[in-house]
Amino acid sequence: MSIDDNRRPQDGANIAHDPAHAGAKPAELAPGGFAWGMFADNDPIATTIARDNARLNRLARRVQVIDAAGFAHPLLRRHQFDLVLANILARPLIDLAPVFAAHAGRGARIALAGVLVEQAGQVIAAYEAGFVMRVNAVLEGWALLAGERR
Ligand SMILES: C[S@@+](CC[C@H](N)C(=O)[O-])C[C@H]1O[C@@H](n2cnc3c(N)ncnc32)[C@H](O)[C@@H]1O
Repeated sequence: MSIDDNRRPQDGANIAHDPAHAGAKPAELAPGGFAWGMFADNDPIATTIARDNARLNRLARRVQVIDAAGFAHPLLRRHQFDLVLANILARPLIDLAPVFAAHAGRGARIALAGVLVEQAGQVIAAYEAGFVMRVNAVLEGWALLAGERR
């Protein structure tokens, strides 16, 4: 992965993600491929595992794992992303809505997990200013929300 704008490949997407499972998730969630991704978690155990997974999946060169809450890190703050993924919980997702909008580039897509079906409405309401949102899937009481930047 590169964090240097000049080194971004022409195809694929730039991804911002929170997960501990960096290195596995981007391949699953961007089946068309991704150019590079930045992955943040505020739990150092999660970021350690994420770095290991990125190496095991031979994605270490395209993946940068960062210890940060939300986008609160200088390396994250300077980027706009094509795809923003977050698997947290409804309350932090609601708090992060303006931050995610600020870092979602023109035409960017977003996917949010960790939301109970009954919380979907309030999370969608928080994101509506920045994104056109919908419930994309429901599984065992959990909703996957997806959207596009307005
Ligand atoms: C449900 S787990 C997701 C696990 C893994 N990320 C995945 O997608 O499979 C939620 C993760 O979000 C992290 N987290 C919670 N609030 C956060 C925040 N404000 N910024 C960054 N990470 C956060 C937690 O430390 C935890 O690792």
